[in-house]
Amino acid sequence: MSDMIKLMKSHVSVRSFTDEVIPEEHLKEILEAGQAASSWKNFQSYSIIKVRSQETKQAIYDLESQHWIKTCDTFLLMVGDLNRAKVAVDLRNASFYPEGVENLLISSVDAALVGQNILLAAESLGYGGVMIGMVRQSSEGLAELLNLPEYTYPIFGIALGVPKKHNPIKPRLPLETVVFDEKYRVADSQVIHDFDAVQTAYAGARQTELWSERIVQQFGQPESPVTEHYLKKQKLLRSED
Ligand SMILES: Cc1cc2nc3c(=O)[nH]c(=O)nc-3n(C[C@H](O)[C@H](O)[C@H](O)COP(=O)(O)O)c2cc1C
Repeated sequence: MSDMIKLMKSHVSVRSFTDEVIPEEHLKEILEAGQAASSWKNFQSYSIIKVRSQETKQAIYDLESQHWIKTCDTFLLMVGDLNRAKVAVDLRNASFYPEGVENLLISSVDAALVGQNILLAAESLGYGGVMIGMVRQSSEGLAELLNLPEYTYPIFGIALGVPKKHNPIKPRLPLETVVFDEKYRVADSQVIHDFDAVQTAYAGARQTELWSERIVQQFGQPESPVTEHYLKKQKLLRSED
């Protein structure tokens, strides 16, 4: 196995950090490794807000109370960004149509690939971190705090730092339940039962609900309207009026 694959397979989210600081030159390397990710037509439809001041981390924590936001060394907000596209379109005196699901997928996928590169690069240098998607529930507050202009939207944060503690690697679904030879196969309920048992064995006494019960919490009710509302405000989704 290559060192790279060994690193990738040893990933665990880290939510507990020491007070040690990531040197600026390491952070630059990590961010440049992030930038190296593929992007749709090389448009690079994302921006990253790098937050290192305790004051701003605290302000973000006040919006989304996950402890690791204020205890990490660096908080990165991954932003889907068509604002630069607007500048380019204006430069060429063309009309601008940023709204739509396809465009949201373009910027979201670009930002996600960069985010994953960043986390892996950080892990390769001995740091750790966790992605924080719940920040989307506070998009308006974040936008105000961090000066996000129209045609941009927060996608997820990444809290980075020196790990105080590593949890054991979390189990994944068996490969054959997510990778199919040639054609898709719909999962039968045994797949779900079996992974509930695997996840329960992993979590032990820390488990409060089954893995499938958490799926129900997410997908067993209509999604929160906050993100859709915000994307309409940012002119990235059409408002049906
Ligand atoms: C887009 C995205 C958003 C996430 N948001 C959160 C979050 O808000 N809070 C959190 O503690 N973990 C968050 N996570 C981390 C996942 O819970 C974690 O990756 C998953 O449980 C697998 O665990 P592992 O990363 O340790 O392998 C997020 C992960 C992703 C990919």
